[in-house]
Amino acid sequence: MTQIVRVLTGITTSGTPHLGNYVGAIRPAIAASRAAGAESFYFLADYHALIKVGDPARVQRSTLEIAAAWLACGLDPDRVWFYRQSDIPEIPELTWLLTCVTAKGLLNRAHAYKAAVDRNVDLGEDADAGVSAGLFMYPVLMAADILMFGAHKVPVGRDQIQHIEMARDMAARFNHLYGEHFVLPEAAIEAHVATLPGTDGRKMSKSYDNTIPLFCSAAELKKAILGIVTDSRAPGEPKDADESNVFQLYRAFASAQETEAMRRAFAEGIAWGEAKQRLFERIDAEIAPLRARYEALIAEPARIEEALLAGAAKARALAAPLLARLRHAVGLRALTALSTSADAASGEPAEAVKPPQFKQYRDADGLFYFKLVADDGRILLQSLSHAAPRDAGQRIARLKREGGKALTAGAGGGVLLDGSVIAHLCEGVDFAAAAAALDRLAAAEADA
Ligand code: TRP
Repeated sequence: MTQIVRVLTGITTSGTPHLGNYVGAIRPAIAASRAAGAESFYFLADYHALIKVGDPARVQRSTLEIAAAWLACGLDPDRVWFYRQSDIPEIPELTWLLTCVTAKGLLNRAHAYKAAVDRNVDLGEDADAGVSAGLFMYPVLMAADILMFGAHKVPVGRDQIQHIEMARDMAARFNHLYGEHFVLPEAAIEAHVATLPGTDGRKMSKSYDNTIPLFCSAAELKKAILGIVTDSRAPGEPKDADESNVFQLYRAFASAQETEAMRRAFAEGIAWGEAKQRLFERIDAEIAPLRARYEALIAEPARIEEALLAGAAKARALAAPLLARLRHAVGLRALTALSTSADAASGEPAEAVKPPQFKQYRDADGLFYFKLVADDGRILLQSLSHAAPRDAGQRIARLKREGGKALTAGAGGGVLLDGSVIAHLCEGVDFAAAAAALDRLAAAEADA
């Protein structure tokens, strides 16, 4: 039997999908989601987008485009969990529970936050100038995304590895404090997935403004490809394929055979214009059918909205019961819920029942008594009277030492020690339960 591996990743809805996203994330994720033994969770991280983007229309547009792109590229929402983060209210709620177990110092060390602080310091500004609390809390929100669904593997870029490690730290800390609720996730860095160069040769990234959109028209795609920066080698001059961003891009779309043919063409001095034309044709062959689906989807946002809401319902079916258990674990409980019965009702293992306690007192008649009181306040045993407090105290000490086995059941609820009645069972309490409670107390005393 294969072990089910849960894979989860989020896509921040702050931009328009580009070829780098397609090759680096969308295409491998969809392929992985079709493998047996995988449970895949892909979501639109729109709460994360708010940290970077202040333009509401852009957040909405990006959400539409990214959702349409994933669906157009073949993601099957019936087979995976595909949802929008902000449709899952359990995620911000979990964020708070994690916030309360996260050291502020851990967040101080997050790369993105530290980089912002370092920049400010270099500029002679206040360290936190322009830094929102949202940026500071980014890793906690991300941990909630991951831990909510028990992800084992989180495919991310290298820049996100630290965030996964922080999510592990938070999970371990919470588990330590409140019981084993969370899986400890791991970052999955796909070594064989290419990082695409952008039009200027650096990694294709929105922040370098060197991207080629995934779903522009064929004419725009061609124009963007013709604009790729190359060296000035003339037609006929041999070109080094491994040094060329045109070749790197080609390889990300071509078969091994096609790639070898292109490598030869480079060695034989293919003109840059010709190489770019072949690159355009190869990419367009893969993208054109997806583009047609994308355009159809984008034209009908209601269908995408419906798919996302269905995905949210499916995700919440997992999130809501876990959050209910977490709330209980941290003490956010109905006041009427006795911890033991609530645990039994939710199908969780019952918490260890706390031992009862002896209460010793002097009554209005001037005599001395004790009673054995369960953790939930029920009285289990009521003693007969003692003339001196020491007599009561000695019996208590002996019962704590020997536990329930020191006692025998007598007639009419009487409880005997060494053959004499010393106490009575209270209404509704049976002897075995009282003796078992006393055993727990004896065990606790022995441990102490
Ligand atoms: N921070 C991720 C990025 O910028 C996006 C993201 C948000 C994410 N939540 C996540 C990725 C959870 C993986 C898991 O790429």
